[in-house]
Amino acid sequence: MSQEQTDLRGYIPPNLPLAQTLETKAVLKKAISANVALARLNGATARIPNQAVLINSLVLQEAKDSSEIENIITTHDDLYRSTIDPTNLSQSVKEVRYYGEALRKGFKLVTQNKLLLIKDIIQIQSLLEKNDAGIRKQGGTCLKNDLTDEVIFTPPQLENDIRNALANLEQYINDSELDDIDPLIKMAIIHHQFETIHPFYDGNGRTGRIINILYLVLNELLDLPILYLSRYITTHKTEYYRLLQRVRIDQAWEEWILFMLDGIEQTANQTIQLVHKIDKLMDETAKLIQEKAPKLYSKDLLEVLFIHPYTKIEFTENTLGVSRKTASTYLNKLADLGVLKPIKMGTSKYFINKRFYHLLSGK
Ligand SMILES: Nc1ncnc2c1ncn2[C@@H]1O[C@H](COP(=O)(O)OP(=O)(O)O)[C@@H](O)[C@H]1O
Ligand SMILES: [Mg+2]
Repeated sequence: MSQEQTDLRGYIPPNLPLAQTLETKAVLKKAISANVALARLNGATARIPNQAVLINSLVLQEAKDSSEIENIITTHDDLYRSTIDPTNLSQSVKEVRYYGEALRKGFKLVTQNKLLLIKDIIQIQSLLEKNDAGIRKQGGTCLKNDLTDEVIFTPPQLENDIRNALANLEQYINDSELDDIDPLIKMAIIHHQFETIHPFYDGNGRTGRIINILYLVLNELLDLPILYLSRYITTHKTEYYRLLQRVRIDQAWEEWILFMLDGIEQTANQTIQLVHKIDKLMDETAKLIQEKAPKLYSKDLLEVLFIHPYTKIEFTENTLGVSRKTASTYLNKLADLGVLKPIKMGTSKYFINKRFYHLLSGK
């Protein structure tokens, strides 16, 4: 094929599994410590009785961080406030909320079907972008340097090439016998391959990061969808882009895989710390209510405060199945005790679980 024809088609990635040996000594060593960290994370999460506590807070965090990589910037306060009043939202807050929806949908599909198919990935991206454009049909998509506008990389341009590469990726994701290397190494390869195929006009980065977590869940390496690499990627963004590119130029797979495995290990360790802190805070809050307002205390009430860090009377009413009046008494009493901070919003009021909010927002 002539150079011109290649340029027209863009870069066509090699089919998976890759021919070269990826399990070098360094990679195997790192894979072990990443797996150990993940197993410890699963152990830690088992201590929090209500899964919604961790899932809600970490999904929101990830939606925020992953969108931030794409320069969609929001604050924790804006995001939590949108759970209280989902009207008049800014474009960024909407986009982050779509990300959360897409992630949850993906988690549901994978746990139900025990498969992660291309049609699911298309559905995830469509929820994320709120459009049905689907797989790219027209050429012209390329990755450019933000500052210089110089083209860094041209993904496959023809729909047929994109579909073939995706069919191969689908098989690689779902047929564990195709390549018997460690699933964490496979996750790194899958992420790279997906970003290289770049099948959509937009949303490839975010969809690719959702695929990472779904792949871990699919392989039963995670009990809950709570290991998110976006914060790690944001802090190492230049490295992330550089290494994505170096694989294509120099076949630098080892460096890429080590980078991703290190991300898994570091993130798992940070998440374990966070889970411990949440566990401790829930304990302390329970004790305080039991001591100061024993008649009010129930496990369900405690959990409501942690499932919705920003809460309002309706949430408590619905979750606990109590009257509006009772729910209002509960929340106001908790505000008197200093557990919640009441905030006026027009004619209504909402309440913030102060200490939990500070823990989650790092403030
Ligand atoms: N050189 C590169 N090679 C492959 N993928 C890249 C490269 N540079 C960036 N990417 C991927 O492309 C993503 C951005 O693509 P885009 O479709 O705009 O996704 P999103 O809308 O979620 O940002 C990045 O997050 C990264 O994962
Ligand atoms: Mg984009």
